[in-house]
Amino acid sequence: MSASPQVDNRTLAELIADQKPGYALAQRFYTDPGIYALEVERIIMRNWILAGHESELVNPGDFKVVNVASESAILVCGTDGTLNAFANVCRHRGSLVCLDASGHARKFECPYHGWMYDIDGHLIAARNMPDEFDLAGHGLLPISVDTIHGLVFVAFCDDPPSLEGAKRDLAEPMAMFDFENLKVAARKTYPIPANWKLSIENYQECYHCATAHPDYARMHTLMLDQKKIQRVQQHMRDRMPACGLNDIYVDYNYQKARPGEIGYGYSRTAMFEGYKTGSKDGQPVAPLLGDLRDYDGGASDFTFGAFSFLLAYSDHVVCYVFTPVDKDNSLCEIFWLVRSDADEGKDYDVDALTWLWDVTTEADKTIIVNNSKGVHSRYYRPGPFSGMENLERVYIEWILEQLKAP
Ligand code: FES
Ligand SMILES: [Fe+2]
Repeated sequence: MSASPQVDNRTLAELIADQKPGYALAQRFYTDPGIYALEVERIIMRNWILAGHESELVNPGDFKVVNVASESAILVCGTDGTLNAFANVCRHRGSLVCLDASGHARKFECPYHGWMYDIDGHLIAARNMPDEFDLAGHGLLPISVDTIHGLVFVAFCDDPPSLEGAKRDLAEPMAMFDFENLKVAARKTYPIPANWKLSIENYQECYHCATAHPDYARMHTLMLDQKKIQRVQQHMRDRMPACGLNDIYVDYNYQKARPGEIGYGYSRTAMFEGYKTGSKDGQPVAPLLGDLRDYDGGASDFTFGAFSFLLAYSDHVVCYVFTPVDKDNSLCEIFWLVRSDADEGKDYDVDALTWLWDVTTEADKTIIVNNSKGVHSRYYRPGPFSGMENLERVYIEWILEQLKAP
């Protein structure tokens, strides 16, 4: 394998032009540090990434740190209760300011020379600096933050795409599950030693589900052919009204995104008969969400931009956030949401709640790492996608579009 340290726009344009439609990406898209650097600039730093749920940050001083590629943000509930995000970079000589992953702070003290910032990002103390030193001019730099019906997103740029369409069009499906009144019941981070695209590409297709995920495959129907899916889909649709669910379909994903907006989508897919939710035996693992009255045997996919994917069962929501760490490493962060008034131990058990997607993600991690090893081989040749990899195809075509945009 050879990796050029730099890729100029012409080389990139040639690589993109050489990319055979309907085929896996060429090796350099996974191995070239220059392409990774462009992805960071043109895709990763320009788009919204799911950072958590509002319920994690309700009291002034509640904070969590969000790391994406080489950037780090402090997400913090301010004195007036509003949510802010700041670059986790000291205005003195640039040290990370906050080294804790989450918690409650009265102020943030830089561990290097002790500059002190309040929870609204203002610099409030700097030892031994000259009298004329301007504290006010050295506050933490702001990072874009916004919420969509309870979900918190950050973007490491000043002019991120608009979230207005997503807020409007996803209001109804998100209200069905009462997203604003959910809470985080569990979270887990899966470090994946593979390029971030391999991790997300794997999430976009279920061609591998029958071979890699025996547990997932006995309840979820995604690996069935279209005709069979339609039949089980109809059974679920017949049950939905009595369960309190509306039949909604939204698709502004990727290339279908409106100009200047993030892509987003919503759909609901039936599980096999007998499965009420994504659990070991198909039985409920938490109280029904929102005003739902019964289990329709479906699971809803929500997509927010290019890194954040949610699966809403009738009694819990699983949120997946994929981010790059560097060219060869990515993270999959999963958090599980239940209704805020559910009590752990009484209404839900964390092991039962997290079982399915923990085993599934561990298996995914293994196949993604195997994939990455082969993709680095001198014998790697991009092969054709199957009909069950259409979403992955759409995803990489979107990536290539974004890379082209100067
Ligand atoms: S780098 Fe933060 S106080 Fe010096
Ligand atoms: Fe998988």
